[in-house]
Amino acid sequence: MSTTIMKIGAIILAAGKSTRMKSDTPKVMHLLCGLPVVTFPVEAAIKSGAGHTALVISSECRKGFAGLFGGKKSVELAIQREQKGTGDAVKAARAAIGGSCEHVFIIPGDVPLIRPETLKQLYLATTSKNAVCGVLTMEPSDPASYGRIVRDNTGFVKAIVEARDANTSELMIREVNSSIYCVKTEWLFEAIKKITPQNSKREYYLTDIIKIAVAEGHAVVAQCITDANEAMGINTRRELTQANRLMRLRILSSLMEEGVGIINEDCTYIDCGVKIGPDTTIFPNTFISGKTVIGHHCRIETGAVIKDSVIGNGVHIKPYSAIEDSIIKDNSQIGPFARLRPGTIVEDGARIGNFVEVKKSTIRRGAKANHLSYIGDAVVGERTNVGCGTITCNYDGRDKHKTIIGNDVFIGSDVQFVAPVKIGNNALIGAGSTITADVPANALAIARGNQIIKKNWAKK
Ligand code: UD1
Ligand code: CA
Repeated sequence: MSTTIMKIGAIILAAGKSTRMKSDTPKVMHLLCGLPVVTFPVEAAIKSGAGHTALVISSECRKGFAGLFGGKKSVELAIQREQKGTGDAVKAARAAIGGSCEHVFIIPGDVPLIRPETLKQLYLATTSKNAVCGVLTMEPSDPASYGRIVRDNTGFVKAIVEARDANTSELMIREVNSSIYCVKTEWLFEAIKKITPQNSKREYYLTDIIKIAVAEGHAVVAQCITDANEAMGINTRRELTQANRLMRLRILSSLMEEGVGIINEDCTYIDCGVKIGPDTTIFPNTFISGKTVIGHHCRIETGAVIKDSVIGNGVHIKPYSAIEDSIIKDNSQIGPFARLRPGTIVEDGARIGNFVEVKKSTIRRGAKANHLSYIGDAVVGERTNVGCGTITCNYDGRDKHKTIIGNDVFIGSDVQFVAPVKIGNNALIGAGSTITADVPANALAIARGNQIIKKNWAKK
C-alpha cells in the first residue's frame, strides 16, 4: 500500500509551550519507553509512506532537536518563531516541506500512539472521496477540551469548533478532533493564509481551514478511529505515564507474539528497540533498555536491570543483577546480585556469582568468579577459578593498570592482584596473597605474612 502514497509528506507540530508538564524539558522530548515522544509520530509518518517530514519546533528547542533525526535525511526542522497557534505552525513548515508532495499529513508531536495503518486509512478516506482535507476523529468517553466535529446531513465535515469557543449544542457533540489531518498540499498553504485570529485565544487555529474549504465548495471528510487512545495527546505528566503504559503493553504483546515469555505484563519494562529471542522468559520487575539484544532460551530473573548489552543464548541472569554495556555469551550465568559495568565480556559458559563487580574485563570461557570480587581492567583465562574475595587493585591513584590471568589458574580466597601483573597458565595462588610480581606458568605463589605461634602467650 505504501507505494500508492509515495507522494505524501508530513508536518509534525512540536513548537507549542509545554506549560502543563511543569518541566524544563519540552514535552515532546520526554522519554516514552526509552525514546523521545516526538520520534513516535515521526516514525509513524515515515512508515505510512511519507517521503519527507517537516518537524516544526520553537527556536529555543533547536539544540535539543538537532541530531535527534540526524541519520534521517527525510526529516527537516522548521522553526516557528512565535507560538501563534497551530495554523501559524503549519505555515512555518512551508519551505521545509517543499513542493513535491501532493498531500501532507499534519500530526501533533505529542501523539505517540498513532499507528501507520491508521494514517494510511486516513489517506485513503481523503483521496477516495476527492476531499481537500481529511481529519481523523474520535469519540472519547469525555470530549473535554477537544475541538468538536460539526458534520452536515450528508456526513461531510462543516466545521471544527474549539470547546472554548463552542455553544451549548456544539459542546454536546461527542465526535472530536484528533488534530491529525491529511490535506492537499497546494490548497493547504493557500488556505492557511486566510486564517484570522478571531477567537477567544487570539490564535491562528489550524481548524479554521475546514470552514475555508467548505466556503470554497470543497469536501472535507472525517475518519473516526475506534481506539481513541491512538490519538491521545500528552500534555501532563499523568498522560505521559498513561501513554508509557500503553506503549509498554504494545512492546510486550509483540514480544509475546514472537515467542518470548513474559510472566507479568504489569511490571516488566522493556524499551522500544530491544530484541529478544523465542523461549526466553522475562521475570517481573525487570528493566531492559537501550540497544539490548537477548538471545533465545534465556532466563532473565527478577530485579535484572540491563542496558545496551548483548546477551547470547541459554544465558541465566539471576535476581538483582545490573548489567550495562556488556557482552554475555552463550550458556553463562550471572548473579544473583552481580554488577557488570561497561566493557565487560563474559564468554561461553562462564559464571559470575553474587556480589561480584566486573569492569572493562574479559572473563574467558568456563571461568568462574562466584563470590565477592572486584575484577577491573583484567583478563581471566579459560576455566580459571577466582576465589572468594579476590580483588584486582587496578588503580594506583593516577592510572589504571591491567591484570592478565592465564588459563586453568586456581586463585585461592582473598587474593589481591596489584596491577600491572601477569599470571601464567596453570598457576596456583595461595589464599590471602598480595601478588605484586608476575607468576610464571605452573608455579605456586604465596605472598602473605607467615603465621607465628607463641605458646601460652595468652596466659601471661
Ligand atoms: C488542538 C486542536 C483541537 C484538537 C486537539 C487534539 C486547534 C486550534 N485545536 O487543540 O481541535 O481537539 O488539538 O489534541 O488546532 N503547536 C505549535 N505551535 C503553536 C501551537 C501549537 O507547534 O503555536 C503544536 C503543539 O506543540 C502541539 C500541537 O501543535 O503539538 C497542538 O497544539 P495544542 O496547543 O496542544 O492544541 P490543543 O489546544 O490541544
Ligand atoms: Ca494538545
